[in-house]
Amino acid sequence: MYYPDELVEEIRTKNDIVDVISGYVRLQRKGSSHFGLCPFHNEKSPSFSVSQGKQMFYCFGCGAGGNVFTFIMQYENYSFQEAVKFLADRAGVRLPEADYGGEAKKRDTKRARLLEVNKEAAKYFYYQLRTKSGQAGYQYLRDRQLSDETIRKFGLGFANMTSNDLVKYLRGKGYEDGLLQEAGLAGFDEKHGMHDKFWNRVMFPIQDSNHRVIGFGGRVMGDGKPKYLNSPETMIFDKSRNLYGLNLAKSARQNNIILCEGYMDVIAMHQAGFTQAAASLGTAFTEGQASLIGRYAREVILAYDSDGAGVRAALRAIGILRGAGLTGRVLSMEPFKDPDEFIKNRGREAFAERIAQAENSFFFELRMLQREYDLKDPESKTRFYREIAKRLCGFSEEVERENYIQAVAERYGIGFQNLRKLVLSYASQTGFASPVQRPKSGMGRKDQPAENRRKSQRLLLTWLVEEPSLYPRIKKYISPEDFTEELYRKIAVKLFEGLDQGEMNPAAIISLFTDEEEQRQAAGVFNTRLEELSGKQEREKAFHDILLAVKRNSYEYFSGQLGADMAAVNQVIAGKKALEELSKTHISLD
Ligand code: UTP
Ligand code: MN
Repeated sequence: MYYPDELVEEIRTKNDIVDVISGYVRLQRKGSSHFGLCPFHNEKSPSFSVSQGKQMFYCFGCGAGGNVFTFIMQYENYSFQEAVKFLADRAGVRLPEADYGGEAKKRDTKRARLLEVNKEAAKYFYYQLRTKSGQAGYQYLRDRQLSDETIRKFGLGFANMTSNDLVKYLRGKGYEDGLLQEAGLAGFDEKHGMHDKFWNRVMFPIQDSNHRVIGFGGRVMGDGKPKYLNSPETMIFDKSRNLYGLNLAKSARQNNIILCEGYMDVIAMHQAGFTQAAASLGTAFTEGQASLIGRYAREVILAYDSDGAGVRAALRAIGILRGAGLTGRVLSMEPFKDPDEFIKNRGREAFAERIAQAENSFFFELRMLQREYDLKDPESKTRFYREIAKRLCGFSEEVERENYIQAVAERYGIGFQNLRKLVLSYASQTGFASPVQRPKSGMGRKDQPAENRRKSQRLLLTWLVEEPSLYPRIKKYISPEDFTEELYRKIAVKLFEGLDQGEMNPAAIISLFTDEEEQRQAAGVFNTRLEELSGKQEREKAFHDILLAVKRNSYEYFSGQLGADMAAVNQVIAGKKALEELSKTHISLD
């Protein structure tokens, strides 16, 4: 931990979680908790809960959870340390110079250094564009009809013809060569030594949603290859979780985001007043980006290129949007290729009209599908209708499905009842789509014994959190070392420490972890509801089984360490005794 624990704890207690989250999510009080729509996945009914008592949040839909630091980390895409700073400011707590140590410090310093060096580079490029050597770049942008105001707003710049001036400049500012390489700003080889990666290109700084420069796209002025050169992914530049222009688009308050493919398209749209435009970063649209958009808007208007690749990309994006619970519409730029060209040729009013006319994504899909069938041939036509019916099964909500059946029937001249029957007959084979269950981040497929091990350790902790009065009864059998999963052991150490003094402070325990995923899992321990077991006997047996499973696993684990580790001997001897005793002991839950 970089700041002293007490300080972190002070900052946490001075930022009431309900207060803080209310600034982001509309919450409603229900019993002892507040509920709202989860900002980390898309949903129609609230499963996101915030508990004032526990000072924690937890989403029963997607498993996101933690304390006030976790929330800020996830929402603002901050590191733990940045979240501490942010909340200290909010509560007016003065921070000392960070008291750093260990790996975590290295990681955070590295992040901060990467952000700094990108910012310096952006400043340098920006300045170059305004010098004599940047004349060509400036002229190129002006020829593409960008105003000075737009060039400034997007921080556009220029990487000149000299092959190592950026390297020299950044070295002069005290940045080491390794960092420049890691940031993707410079390369090294025997022949040229350290040299700039971007060379004779106009530069587009890429910002995250907090306006921090995380990478660059550089365009050749003319026909060279590659047309755009982009920064590689780094610790601060995750292409699947950022969108170009979103830092500006998020405050457009249009209730939709226009999603396109190119940097220039975003800029042209913003200049024409469509400030809700954003673009993916030269890679395919991802679920991460969809959920990012979901924080700011419910509808996405796809403005992909009108060529074959653009249509394929749009079809893919539609599926992803649907999975994220967002509505999609598809904008036609015909006869032009992209928004930039459309606006240049037809102007903003015409573009606004196209937005208004943007096609419902389901109808777009059907229209694309139709191209594969010959509607003059009854065989082919029937197959087309069947495919439509199959897709209509994808609407799990009845009202919505009926509305679509009706609309499709009208549009394609199919009898409403016939189509409805066809849909129902498909549904009887496969069922209507149920909401997609997305895997929780970081937890891929697991091997079963390991998962069982984790599960019993997690359950034991949860049980103790729910019924702290059990602790004195089992304390002689179990210690934090029995939790062989590191995360659970850390929790157990703190939890037991508190319980020994008759107190429990889950939100403080979560601050022990600086990693979002760990915080999420820790929050899970404190928010899992134990299975409802009816009878007392049944509950006692379940508790006993869990306790035994944890103890047995620990015994086996330490037995495996014998020979390698002397401390394990004691653990094993004590463990064997405890196990024997425990298997004969009845622990009452009264
Ligand atoms: P396009 O080729 O459609 O370019 O690439 P564009 O945006 O219309 O560019 P202009 O108008 O010719 O300047 C769309 C996006 O794909 C990525 C970039 O993010 C670009 O904005 N791309 C394209 C690359 O990353 N590298 C390339 O070589 C080409
Ligand atoms: Mn273009």
